Amino acid sequence: MSDGGQRTYGPLGTALVIIPTYNEAENIGLIVGRVRAAVPEAHILVADDNSPDGTGKLADELAAGDDHVHVLHRKGKEGLGAAYLAGFLWALEQGYGVIVEMDADGSHQPEELPRLLTALAGADLVLGSRWVPGGRVVNWPKSREFLSRGGSTYSRLMLNLPMRDVTGGYRAFRRETLEGLGLDEVASAGYCFQVDLARRAVQKGFRVVEVPITFVEREFGDSKMSKDILVEALWRVTQWGIKAQASKLLGGDKGGEKGSDKDGGKGGGPGTP
Ligand code: GDD
Ligand code: MN
Repeated sequence: MSDGGQRTYGPLGTALVIIPTYNEAENIGLIVGRVRAAVPEAHILVADDNSPDGTGKLADELAAGDDHVHVLHRKGKEGLGAAYLAGFLWALEQGYGVIVEMDADGSHQPEELPRLLTALAGADLVLGSRWVPGGRVVNWPKSREFLSRGGSTYSRLMLNLPMRDVTGGYRAFRRETLEGLGLDEVASAGYCFQVDLARRAVQKGFRVVEVPITFVEREFGDSKMSKDILVEALWRVTQWGIKAQASKLLGGDKGGEKGSDKDGGKGGGPGTP
């Protein structure tokens, strides 16, 4: 590890904060600065999808002046899920002990990261949660809150998940958790990637803990949420839900569908690890 083996948060190892970016030129400098100040020991990986606004170049400049900052350049916009998968593989290869997901736009406040990391001492996956007591959202229009709460509720019910915030994107994983999730089977491209990882973590029996966060809507730039992202999420969650129900009915305790989503959805096989 390039920080000379410096350890954060006890035995878990050095943390890497992955920040996926697409057109975040106004935000990237701010967020990197805030992470560096809030958790100085942590490293940062910016996973940029060749943003037309030059975010990748700005990230390179930050990395040139700071050995805790790294950049993964991807060839084009392939979705949040694909960017995170590439970032996760890089993190595991490099030997990081803790891997964090964080948006670039300031919605996930770096100052709250120490609380997430502390909770990881007693968990395999920590979710920053808007919808548990103490969690909240600042400056979201009612329509967006309705959509997000609705998405979480639908996913909870369809997939029989215990957590309140299923779609959130502020999370901390132990490396062993990522290694155990079957990342090579994940096909989700958009924001349903978050639901996909949450359901996999539950299926595999990992300890998932929710920590309340204050999600602050971005001041600069635009959300990348789109109709396509919504449709993908609705479609996949519904499919996963139906498959899980069917295998419960047919296979008794077989614990839902597992297998690859990349094989045209045939998947199959018991889901217990
Ligand atoms: N590399 C890459 N590629 N990054 C992307 C892409 C992509 O295709 N799409 C979005 N991002 C990055 C953005 O640049 C930002 O850093 C982060 O992903 C989140 O995108 P936003 O567009 O700001 O998301 P949001 O605020 O609408 O959505 C929030 O709520 C979702 C639903 O609850 C986020 O917290 C999401 O993580 C969450 O799933
Ligand atoms: Mn955002």
